[in-house]
Amino acid sequence: MKKIVMDIDVIRKNAKRDIEAATSVKTCEDVRVQYLGRKDGELTAVLRALSSMSLEEKRRVGSEANALRVELEELIENKIKELSSKKIQRIDVTKPGKRVSLGHLHPLTRIDREVRDIFSSLNFSVVSGPELEDEYHNFDALNIPGDHPARDMWDTFWVKPRTDNGEEIKGAKKGGKLLMRTHTSPMQIRYMETHQAPFQIIVPGRTFRYEATDASHEINFYQVEGLMVGPNVTLANFKFIIESFFKRFFGENLEFRYRPSYFPFVEPGVELDVKLPGGKWLEVMGAGMVHRNVFNAVKYDKEMQGFAFGMGLDRLAMIKYGIPDIRLFYSGDVRFTKQF
Ligand code: DAH
Repeated sequence: MKKIVMDIDVIRKNAKRDIEAATSVKTCEDVRVQYLGRKDGELTAVLRALSSMSLEEKRRVGSEANALRVELEELIENKIKELSSKKIQRIDVTKPGKRVSLGHLHPLTRIDREVRDIFSSLNFSVVSGPELEDEYHNFDALNIPGDHPARDMWDTFWVKPRTDNGEEIKGAKKGGKLLMRTHTSPMQIRYMETHQAPFQIIVPGRTFRYEATDASHEINFYQVEGLMVGPNVTLANFKFIIESFFKRFFGENLEFRYRPSYFPFVEPGVELDVKLPGGKWLEVMGAGMVHRNVFNAVKYDKEMQGFAFGMGLDRLAMIKYGIPDIRLFYSGDVRFTKQF
């Protein structure tokens, strides 16, 4: 009788394997017939053989065989359910599709590209420089020495260089202390250190200020610097270039207003306001004729003169799109960016 017990284990193994492998309701029914079929089922045969066993064996083998019968019936039932529920999953061709949202450009990227395009068409080259700057390029060479009160105009993130172990690296560096550039103006110096005039460039880039944020201030924002240098470059050239730019950017019906202003790296310095049709005067940039001390810092000779300007990309975007709060640009909120 040992043989039948063995068979129960084998039957269990084979039956489970066959149920698992069944791919249709029909194959499930076939498996049921093969193992539990009334006439020739393999497990049925074991149950039938019980009558010739001793009472003790009848109990043991009988309960095992019955338990397996119940188990297999349940497994087959579940498999049938699983297979037929799959069949019911039909495709509803009338159902509206899922909207796939397309990626698109951030408003600042759009403005950045537009500014580059317009200045390129005016024959300006586009260059870029480091965001991590040194004191010399961000301040000193721009006629803002350490004790100059104008340093207060730029609240600075000073950077302490550290080793990989986090130890501070002491000792003066060539360009002085490190900082996150507070404006794109240091690229004026870097460009003139390595290029001779005449030239005309713009420098779009990210800038940093250590200050409290509000609707019009962010600790990080974008600027575009402009610089044109040559033997005969005048403020009249500046007016023509910048008015051409703004008319392309905002539209032909634009009014301009120049106000005297102060920046250490220009003399004279001006501030430019524009007025859109029906709108208010809006301050859009600082500019001026490059200060002699700046040319001295890069060892340009006395013949050279030029104009420089700097404007906020975020501010241009806010005016153009009517955005009330600069912080929205950096919020990462798709409800905002989706609108552009
Ligand atoms: N760098 C100035 C700022 O961040 C802006 C500026 C003003 C740039 C006058 C210039 C300039 O080149 O001539 O506030």
